Amino acid sequence: MKIAVFISGRGSNLQALIEGCQSGEVPAEIGLVVSNRPGAQGLKRAAAAGIATAVIDHTTYDSRESFDAALDAATQRAGCDFICLAGFMRILTEDFVRSWRDRMLNIHPALLPAFPGINCHARAIEMGVRITGCTVHFCRPELDNGPIVTQAAVPVLPDDTEETLAARILEAEHVIYPMAVKLIAEGRVRVINEKVRIMDGAYPEREKLISPVAG
Ligand code: GRF
Repeated sequence: MKIAVFISGRGSNLQALIEGCQSGEVPAEIGLVVSNRPGAQGLKRAAAAGIATAVIDHTTYDSRESFDAALDAATQRAGCDFICLAGFMRILTEDFVRSWRDRMLNIHPALLPAFPGINCHARAIEMGVRITGCTVHFCRPELDNGPIVTQAAVPVLPDDTEETLAARILEAEHVIYPMAVKLIAEGRVRVINEKVRIMDGAYPEREKLISPVAG
């Protein structure tokens, strides 16, 4: 599996994926990192790891369609057959999402379907939920929607601010994103009736509040 990772900023999830692939834990290769923002910190992480990068600046395209066509062309040109969205802050067109159906993952810092969209840490605190978390899912055209591959539950503590909660969730993100990609790269993930089934035996859970479970 050859992956294109799409980013817009910091790239800490990208870093977790790079480390997973480089250590051999995830049997996949990152063939390209694409950023829609020229100054994204994640571009430096990619370069440091010797991974090809492309800046596809959305502000230089006059439509979503032409921007997405450029993303698609760069991904294909790099020989990538899978896309991981990792903090990529652009909404993709329905056509693009359809053409990468079950070959494109996203990570979201909440337990979907709760708190889709932006500001989800603040909204979780505001709503007084005791547990939130993060989700890796296949993409469907609706934002933050699609079959769920992995989730991790993370407690909300009484004195949490948006920042402390985001930091706690981010640690879990760095565990479950490589885990999801590993399962897919191993050919153990099927989407059946819009639900993910993990095949071939139990996955050793690293922590109690992390799923998936096989079967
Ligand atoms: C993460 O919280 C991710 O879940 C969300 O955007 C953030 C990206 O962080 N979609 P990073 O760029 O991976 O550090």
